[in-house]
Amino acid sequence: MTAQAGICAEPNLHAHYLFFNILPGHQSEVRNKLKAVPALWRELADTYSNAAFSGLVAIGHQAWDELYPRQRPAELRAFPAQGEGERAAPETPFDLFFQLRADRLDVAYIAVQKVMALLAGMVELKDERQGFRYLDSRDMTGFVDGTENPQGEDRATVALVAEGPFAGGSYVHVQRYHHRMARWQKLALKTQEDIYGRTKADNIEYAAADKPMTAHTRRTSLKDTNGNSMEILRQSMPWGSATEQGLVFISCCRTPLHFTRMLESMYRRDEQGNFDHLTLFTRAETGAAFFAPSENWLLSQGD
Ligand code: HEM
Repeated sequence: MTAQAGICAEPNLHAHYLFFNILPGHQSEVRNKLKAVPALWRELADTYSNAAFSGLVAIGHQAWDELYPRQRPAELRAFPAQGEGERAAPETPFDLFFQLRADRLDVAYIAVQKVMALLAGMVELKDERQGFRYLDSRDMTGFVDGTENPQGEDRATVALVAEGPFAGGSYVHVQRYHHRMARWQKLALKTQEDIYGRTKADNIEYAAADKPMTAHTRRTSLKDTNGNSMEILRQSMPWGSATEQGLVFISCCRTPLHFTRMLESMYRRDEQGNFDHLTLFTRAETGAAFFAPSENWLLSQGD
């Protein structure tokens, strides 16, 4: 099974994200076009071999049954929306998600144009965002993001379904976060560091005893009932305009359960009333659940 390269890709300099809905009655055309996607990813990677291009297409949980009525990934469900009011992680479903990444902005842009041409007349573009590496892989809040991500072969173990008809695929969750920068920038350095449970300049993890129950890294380091770590592979990148900035958060995992538990732990109050204080300084504007099938699976579908 060949997984789409974008699932386990190493960090890049640039990304372009596209979110589409399929126009009514165009499902079978889209299904046939998606068969051409693995060849498109290969063509781009080969033509611009110095750009570390990787592509990824993922299908939304609502769109799945109309596109592929014969077979559905066992755990593909709605986005696990959380919270309310100022501190909420809503569900905003999309039918298709494309992650186009490269170390060259022009190559990512060429990929965007190829995808737009492939699906012209069949889809409506609902959202797009450009991601970029900020300093030494920092989030716009100034902290290094991705340090505790699985490395090497562990990336595939964490991110890819291992067996069955959907082997080599991945459950993908995407949220567009919009940071409350003015509020964040008013915080003292130590308060910011307590919110992550890591130091800012040199990115050192706090000792376990020093990590507040409200720290982001404490609330997202979870174990299952057997004591095994519930890991995800994060492929997030910052986005920004002159006036607004945030993070396109992307989780890839062999099961949607790990992301779901983490998001609950961030947003819901525990018995002591604690929740992730990072959620006070950034707002989730979108949230959608997808499945990214293997290249072989995409090729086996269609007329
Ligand atoms: C860790 C940023 C949302 C899961 C971290 C770290 C940063 C960070 C700076 C510490 C360094 C690292 O290990 O990467 C952010 C920002 C977010 C966000 C800015 C939103 C705006 C989320 C969400 C989840 C998540 C929604 C999952 C539901 C994790 C995990 C870790 C982590 C699993 C590693 C924890 C550990 O083992 O220490 N994040 N994150 N993050 N984050 Fe987030």
